[in-house]
Amino acid sequence: MGTDFIPVCSVLLGGNEKKYVGDCLEGSWISSSGSYIAAFERAFAEWCGAGQGIAVCNGTAALHVALLALGIGPGDEVIIPDFTMAASAFAVCHAGATPVFADADPRTWNLNPEKAAARITPRTKAIMPVHIFGNPCDMGALRRLAADAGVFLLEDAAEAHGALFEGKRAGTMSDIAAFSFFANKNVTTGEGGMVLTDSADLAARCRYFRNMCFPPDAPRDYMHADIGFNYRMSNIHAAIGLAQTEKADDYRAMRIRNGLLYRELLSAVPGVALQHIQPGGESVFWMNGICVQPEIYGRTRAELVAHLMSQGVDTRIFFQGMHRQAALRKYGCDCSGEYPVSDLLADNGFYLPSGSGLGADEIRRICSLIADFACKGRGRASPGAARGGLRGVKPPDGFKGRGRASPGAARKDLRGTEPPDGSSGGL
Ligand SMILES: Cc1ncc(COP(=O)(O)O)c(C=O)c1O
Repeated sequence: MGTDFIPVCSVLLGGNEKKYVGDCLEGSWISSSGSYIAAFERAFAEWCGAGQGIAVCNGTAALHVALLALGIGPGDEVIIPDFTMAASAFAVCHAGATPVFADADPRTWNLNPEKAAARITPRTKAIMPVHIFGNPCDMGALRRLAADAGVFLLEDAAEAHGALFEGKRAGTMSDIAAFSFFANKNVTTGEGGMVLTDSADLAARCRYFRNMCFPPDAPRDYMHADIGFNYRMSNIHAAIGLAQTEKADDYRAMRIRNGLLYRELLSAVPGVALQHIQPGGESVFWMNGICVQPEIYGRTRAELVAHLMSQGVDTRIFFQGMHRQAALRKYGCDCSGEYPVSDLLADNGFYLPSGSGLGADEIRRICSLIADFACKGRGRASPGAARGGLRGVKPPDGFKGRGRASPGAARKDLRGTEPPDGSSGGL
């Protein structure tokens, strides 16, 4: 494939990473006791606008300690989106509680608040929205829902560093939130995670569970009142995290610039659906997903993915819905019921190269490949068909297609208006 290969994501380490990691090595501060932990926690929490940050070894651990801090355990239910990465559900299982699934919104691909409302029972303890691919959820509706039901709201912000909803950053619109710093994230430590909260009490509980439930202020007598976890982050990872946070505004801007260009170039391709941005929201385009509508595009996802790979463009298919997971069925989750949006996404969606350092020329090449591969003879495109979203999913009331896309329209869409064109305005 030669030098033209475009990976789905590559890491940018262009700041103080080497210098700070060098400090750790020189001073032999390589465990979780070094000063970079607190510095990274402070810097990332401040960047997001949260009161407290608790660094842990990965995003799944961050979700787990957040759930434990909220007191969620056996007998409790947590409502999560069916369309998410399995870690969202697994963390609930690690806490001993039961994940309950709700289908995605056909436009934003995020947890549909109405579907979540229908899953509330007397056992519900929390709702856990996930800002899928960096696109903020309808946090207004979800906050109202959680408040009315008297349950906690826990944001899984693993993919949404710096995303905004009505002026507030992801991770600051709920009781507690969890981030991942895996290597493909907008801010990375290689492996890592962080809990954010404004509550000093919840933060103290997270620190307690993160560190084996050692009593925080008592002399170390190796007695434990609760079962804890070693979810600590090392100083080396935190050193990388601090350097990344110093560049977080740049990486955020690069991801947004790339996301806008993809939208501008793909919004007029019939049969290629893009993720609709929630009104009031600003996505950070962690990943640029597309959902193929084979009846319109004239090709299946498998054909398009294979074609892109043959041209040196790497992609990843979307997650499988939680109701399809054998692991969760075995655990005892109710996997019956219909999840048509999640199924359509899982069967037809994939994401395109999306790393912060991706060049405009590379995006143009990828989009031309997608546009040129459309098999117009095979597809049965009609403006009406395109506008209505994917076959089999009724668009919500009030969803209307629009006229042709323009760069300006695409940009406007980002800030939460209707999509630029019916063909790309969600499912
Ligand atoms: C939505 C979501 N939640 C949780 C996680 C778990 O994060 P980690 O891989 O750092 O454990 C991920 C990972 O990417 C994710 O996408």
